[in-house]
Parts: sequence; structure tokens; C-alpha cells
Amino acid sequence: MSLKLGVNIDHIATLRQARREAFPDPVDAAAVCLSTGADYIVVHLRKDERHINKKDLAQLCKYFPGKIHLECSVEPAMEKAALTYKPHSVCIVPEHPGEVTTMGGLKFTPAVIKRLASMIERLHKKGILVSLFVSPEPSDIRQAAKLGADIVELCTRDYSEATSAAQARKRLQDLALSTLLAKELGLQVHAGHGLDYHNVLAVADLGGVTCMNIGFAIVTRALFAGLPTAVNEMKGLL
Ligand code: PXP
Repeated sequence: MSLKLGVNIDHIATLRQARREAFPDPVDAAAVCLSTGADYIVVHLRKDERHINKKDLAQLCKYFPGKIHLECSVEPAMEKAALTYKPHSVCIVPEHPGEVTTMGGLKFTPAVIKRLASMIERLHKKGILVSLFVSPEPSDIRQAAKLGADIVELCTRDYSEATSAAQARKRLQDLALSTLLAKELGLQVHAGHGLDYHNVLAVADLGGVTCMNIGFAIVTRALFAGLPTAVNEMKGLL
């Protein structure tokens, strides 16, 4: 069975926002991705809406029901958007002011745990699957299971930024052990962040991960190869 591919189209909207134009339209991008190999469309709604905005989310959820995977923080406004537009699934991620991209998995402080518990309950009541973006740490995987998440998305940032083969091997091992534990605890396992056409294969080969969420590498490849080719090539690797 081939792995599922979630294509993150945030940076199609980044390009649109660079000129405050109405194009390129993420809805058009989603249609192309879904017809050329993507299983899901991933969008990250940030507090400053610097790429995807609530109107995009509304349209994407309307035109592609069952296909939209929303990434957002625990902010009440983000939860409200999720409950209003009802994507297929929501991945809850940390968000810090000034960050260029998500810096890592959730930090499970008592306040975050309390907030997550109630947010997960409300998302579940609307039939939305919940994923938690976590570092490949056994204690974080256990916490995600305890909170009743359906999915853990393992953060592959550290793996993608490894500076030696030995470091990459060690970080892959962490991902493998976390995948095993998550599966044992009944969680689905996704992976994402910093994955590209070269480093994705080793993660795919671990087995157990069911979906890879990939954005930057695909959108930047699309500039030279076109979006259908970029998506198709990545799906081919999985
Ligand atoms: N998964 C999560 C939880 C993310 O926050 C991001 C970035 O928005 C991605 C996957 C995609 O990362 P990249 O753009 O590096 O492929």
C-alpha cells in the first residue's frame, strides 16, 4: 500500500500575498494537486494569516470535503475557524510570535494539556479527526494518546536538519521508535516538516507512517517543473 501524501499549499498563498492579489488561488492549486497524486491538501492557518486566510479555508472545505487537513494553534480564533469550516482533520501545532515556520512539536505544559483536552473534545464532537504535532519523544507520544488524539504527526525537522549521516541515522531511529510506540497506543502516524525529494525515502522506509505532509519542497519544485509534475514525482517516491 502506498503512503498517503498531504500537499501543503501555504506557499501558493504566500506568492499571492506578496502582491496582495487574488491569484494564484489556493483552490486552483488544490484541484491540481488532488488530480495529480495528492491524497490530502494541507493548509496552515496562522494568527497573522500571512498565507492561507479564513476565506481560503472556507472555500477549500466547501469544494474539497474530506480532503482538507488544517494545521493551527490552540488559539480560540483558530479553533473557531476549524469548528466553523469543518476540515477533515486538524493538526494542532505550536505557534510562536515572529517564527518563519513551525519550530517543533507541542510542549505539553499543564496549561497546554488543559487547553488541548477541551479543544480535542469540541473538534471530535464535530466529527473532525485530531492530530497533534509532536517531537519524536516517547513521553510526548504517550501524552498525545492520553489526550485522545487520533493521529500524531511526528516532527521531522531535526531529522531534515541533520548535519552528518550518523546524526541522520540517530534521528531516524528516534522516528522509528516513536512510530512503533504510537502504533502500539492505537494512534495513526503522520510525519512532516522539512521533508524533500531526497530525505523522504528513509522516512517512508521506516514503515508505520501512513501519511507524509510536505509543502515547501513541492511548491518550490513546482516553480521549475510545474505543480502536476512536482506532486506526481513526490507521490511516486512514496
Ligand atoms: N507539518 C506541519 C505540522 C507543519 O507545520 C508544516 C509547515 O507548515 C509542514 C508539515 C510542512 O513542512 P514543509 O513546508 O517544510 O514541507
